[in-house]
Amino acid sequence: MGDGTVWHPTVRLVEPDELADWVRCLRIGFHQDEPDGLVEHLRAEVDLDRTWAAFEGSDLCGTLRSAATSLTVPGPAPVPATAISSATVAPTHRRRGALSAMVDAALGFGKEAGEVVSILVAAEYPIYGRFGFGPAIEGAVYHVDVRAVRFRRRAVGHVALVEPETLRSEAPAIYDRVRVAQPGAIDRSPRWRDVALGIVEVPGAPAAATRLGLYRSPSGVPEGYVRYQAKQDWDQMRPNSQLSIDDLVASTPEAYHALWQFCCEVDLVRSLEAWQRGVDETLPWLLEDGRAVRQASRFDFIWARLLDVPGALAGRRYATSDALVLEVVDQRGLAGGRYLLDGGRDGATCTATTAAADLVAPVDALGSVYLGGMSWHVLHRAGRVDEESPSAVARAEAMFRSAPVPWCSTWF
Ligand SMILES: CC(C)(COP(=O)(O)OP(=O)(O)OC[C@H]1O[C@@H](n2cnc3c(N)ncnc32)[C@H](O)[C@@H]1OP(=O)(O)O)[C@@H](O)C(=O)NCCC(=O)NCCS
Repeated sequence: MGDGTVWHPTVRLVEPDELADWVRCLRIGFHQDEPDGLVEHLRAEVDLDRTWAAFEGSDLCGTLRSAATSLTVPGPAPVPATAISSATVAPTHRRRGALSAMVDAALGFGKEAGEVVSILVAAEYPIYGRFGFGPAIEGAVYHVDVRAVRFRRRAVGHVALVEPETLRSEAPAIYDRVRVAQPGAIDRSPRWRDVALGIVEVPGAPAAATRLGLYRSPSGVPEGYVRYQAKQDWDQMRPNSQLSIDDLVASTPEAYHALWQFCCEVDLVRSLEAWQRGVDETLPWLLEDGRAVRQASRFDFIWARLLDVPGALAGRRYATSDALVLEVVDQRGLAGGRYLLDGGRDGATCTATTAAADLVAPVDALGSVYLGGMSWHVLHRAGRVDEESPSAVARAEAMFRSAPVPWCSTWF
């Protein structure tokens, strides 16, 4: 491409025998090596009906894939969603529209399949707004000074260390009870679970001694589990080990309390980190000194893009009963239009209308507020949303807010 020729990417689904090139491009894009066995590992994971590549001639120079998932929205209620991942373009072909063409292919496919919203994790903030995505779910990392931890009361029930096979059978039901009640949560496939539990090994992944704890209530019901790693360390004969929580899932408040208490009380541990948690963690409220828990970082995690405004907005419930006309502006021509949203706690309708708009919003701003985690007020103050009738922003704010705050604990 150094000859001055203008290159236009060709984007199409990848063929099975092109997967090795696809994986190579993906790993170059994310600055990762290519361990033996990775292509076959990913072959079992990707859906070739939704795995795209960009080409220059026969040279593969871009990757992107998507998967169908179920996203819990405020209600709580599930809606069908497109989860996009693995987006890369070779450094030799960047900034010539390859990503744009692949994103358009995946969004078009998702819309055609009846998926009402698309979600992704953005590697860099400035990439995806142009495609209609807005930051919708925040994540947080917590640090816990375990020496300062005193629980206000002792948890009931019991945490046992278990083998992966035990969690393989117990975790799905526990997670699904949490998922259907938590806005922002998505499906975890059997494959995802097996990778997380180490039953399926990821080629090249660092070997880590992962421990698995299963919580049972006093009557013996499995209600939560934790995956953690502890790293041994000593500081001049003083214990200084660190414990890192990869996943803590609790379907009852008691399970939550007991699993955190268990992790905070593992001997020889001086510091604890929990990553990919929600921004409204309950833990500080269980302690005599809530400052033993520090939110070490907070970041945009899941970005959302509406594909079908009536389907997405009618799919959730609203904190107050109201009716608003929303004018949605979509540069990519997928979801724009003027819609009457009439909703409340028991359900909602959303239909095209010619009535005057109360609010005008670009589709990425609507993606940000869709799950109730971001504020219409803030977007209005930032000039991202126009208020066309008095108090429309305040009414939308009251309708769209979600308790609990949306949270997604699942990487994809
Ligand atoms: C991010 C990446 C996929 C972009 O691919 P690309 O083919 O260069 O993107 P496009 O040419 O389609 O870019 C479309 C627009 O987005 C902009 N853009 C693309 N990547 C951007 C970035 N990282 N930061 C800011 N703007 C970016 C382009 O400038 C272009 O803007 P324009 O329409 O105003 O000209 C590529 O740079 C890459 O592989 N990066 C490393 C891996 C990565 O970060 N992947 C994203 C995972 S979520």
